Amino acid sequence: MPFPTRLIPGAAVTLLCALSASFALASEPIHQVSAEVCKNCHQEIYKQWSGSMHAQSSAMKDPIHAAFYQSEVGSPTEEGQVAKANKKYPVCLGCHAPNAARDKTTKLDAKPAYSEGVNCVACHTLAKYKGINDEGGKLRLGISSYELADKIQAPTGLNLGLQKLTAGDDPFGGASAGGDQKPNPHLGEPVEFEGQKIPGLPMEGNPKLMRSNDACMGCHDKRNNPHGVALCGTGDEYVQSRTQVNCISCHMPIAGGMADHSLGGGHDQAMLERSVLFDLSVTPKGDKLAVDASLTNQQPHVLPTGAPFRNIYLKVTAYDAKGEVVWQSTKGHPSEDDPQAYMFLTLVNDEGKPVPPPEAKKAGADSRLKPHETRVLSYEIPAKGVVLVRGELYYNLLWPSLVKKFTQLPEELKQPVLMAEAEKMIGTP
Ligand code: HEC
Ligand code: HEC
Ligand code: HEC
Ligand code: HEC
Ligand code: HEC
Repeated sequence: MPFPTRLIPGAAVTLLCALSASFALASEPIHQVSAEVCKNCHQEIYKQWSGSMHAQSSAMKDPIHAAFYQSEVGSPTEEGQVAKANKKYPVCLGCHAPNAARDKTTKLDAKPAYSEGVNCVACHTLAKYKGINDEGGKLRLGISSYELADKIQAPTGLNLGLQKLTAGDDPFGGASAGGDQKPNPHLGEPVEFEGQKIPGLPMEGNPKLMRSNDACMGCHDKRNNPHGVALCGTGDEYVQSRTQVNCISCHMPIAGGMADHSLGGGHDQAMLERSVLFDLSVTPKGDKLAVDASLTNQQPHVLPTGAPFRNIYLKVTAYDAKGEVVWQSTKGHPSEDDPQAYMFLTLVNDEGKPVPPPEAKKAGADSRLKPHETRVLSYEIPAKGVVLVRGELYYNLLWPSLVKKFTQLPEELKQPVLMAEAEKMIGTP
């Protein structure tokens, strides 16, 4: 957005002088600034972010992460916690509570900027992506893969040099957002807005980071467990797909003239509904119906990507004219009676037995849909009485074994989510 309007320069200068006196000593490091500060002016983006998993990413907020964090590390409200596996500062925080990791603390309730997890400044102070492998080939995870800045990093390049040269006495640069006059703290001086004192939040343009996958990869490329087993590999999957389309074009679409900060994934039903092309074809074949269920992964990453316990499954049901079920591909979960319909990754121990991520010694079978893969699952069902065949595709955040294990989790995180459905009537045009 340009800077079309100007405050009255004289008035602004007086205000600035009065303010800088009271603010001169009050500024805190930028990575400790709470999202509540940004909310004063960036209300719409704040609302989108606060409903996102980034805002829930710390062990203070996300019940699934908290369950693992407590068993692999300990309390998120105590200082001096170390990972049980290696007795070191918990690697989790570099991605799940980056501002706390920057201060090497484990007491996440000490500051809002810690418990807020991946908050505004966590992303907007990433300056340069160094890559996920360090010089010795070891993984550097989360913020340790970045050079970090003490200024807000901005996508369009709010490089303020020219503006400072031309704004004359106007310390606010005359910035306006959405038509409303808003003072601009990004010139680096404290401002007052609607009775709130806002610290100076100096800014610089950094499109190379903010408009590319570099803004995501430090946390989303890949991650290993303590035994070196790959747990998440969205970045590797993406490279395999050889796409040029970046993460933000899907995950931060422009809506209402701004980059949407809802950043939906597996917790977002609408995002899931768009992730797959799903259809059924039904062909009579003697006294049988040949049913093909076709699934196309629309992403340049695996479906489902991310945490290794994400999984999807297909269910096919045939109904008679009264709407009664006459045939179904599975009684409940297909892992037992229709294994082809269950798409998931297994992690196993040395004996090849499936185990939770922290204990895994190697990856087991992986039946998730590859980037852009189309898969057809075929069924032959007795035709007698069938007038409708229906297919349903479900998404689960957790493996069934973890659903059983984590009894404390809220119900809605354990329920399958309907991500796609298709129906075919038989014998009617
Ligand atoms: C007092 C009001 C105010 C507060 C508080 C505020 N900003 Fe801004 N911000 C602005 C104005 C004004 C602009 C420039 C006009 C626009 O793009 O809306 C801006 C622009 C931005 C931009 C976009 C620059 C670009 O390249 O387009 C980013 C990023 C940003 N702010 C981040 C933040 C973050 C992060 C915080 C909290 C740490 C924050 N802002 C707090 C007023 C504010
Ligand atoms: C997960 C990382 C991440 C988080 C968290 C995040 N941002 Fe952003 N933000 C980005 C990226 C990447 C862009 C650039 C998108 C683009 O330009 O395509 C951006 C763009 C912006 C813009 C410019 C929007 C536009 O289209 O003009 C503003 C303003 C902004 N962010 C403010 C905030 C505020 C305020 C918060 C917290 C409430 C926040 N951001 C949280 C990554 C993040
Ligand atoms: C500082 C680390 C960090 C950065 C940078 C980051 N993320 Fe995330 N992201 C996370 C963490 C941690 C979570 C998981 C929160 C949870 O479930 O506890 C997450 C969650 C997500 C989710 C939602 C997953 C779900 O379960 O629903 C999406 C989508 C996502 N990020 C995309 C992005 C994109 C796109 C970018 C780049 C613009 C980005 N992230 C930048 C750390 C980061
Ligand atoms: C073509 C659009 C598209 C692109 C490009 C894309 N994604 Fe996704 N992404 C999706 C959809 C749709 C989902 C939901 C289905 C799923 O979980 O696979 C998703 C899911 C996710 C999740 C959620 C995982 C979880 O555990 O819930 C993360 C994280 C993610 N993407 C990160 C990325 C990153 C990082 C990039 C860039 C390297 C990227 N995505 C590129 C569309 C896209
Ligand atoms: C390299 C960054 C990174 C590190 C290190 C990391 N995580 Fe994550 N974690 C993520 C991202 C990104 C997501 C969400 C998107 C996805 O599924 O890929 C996530 C998701 C999760 C989830 C699923 C949350 C949900 O809501 O379903 C759990 C549980 C989890 N992490 C636990 C941990 C624990 C415990 C540690 C430390 C031992 C840890 N993570 C270390 C990046 C990381």
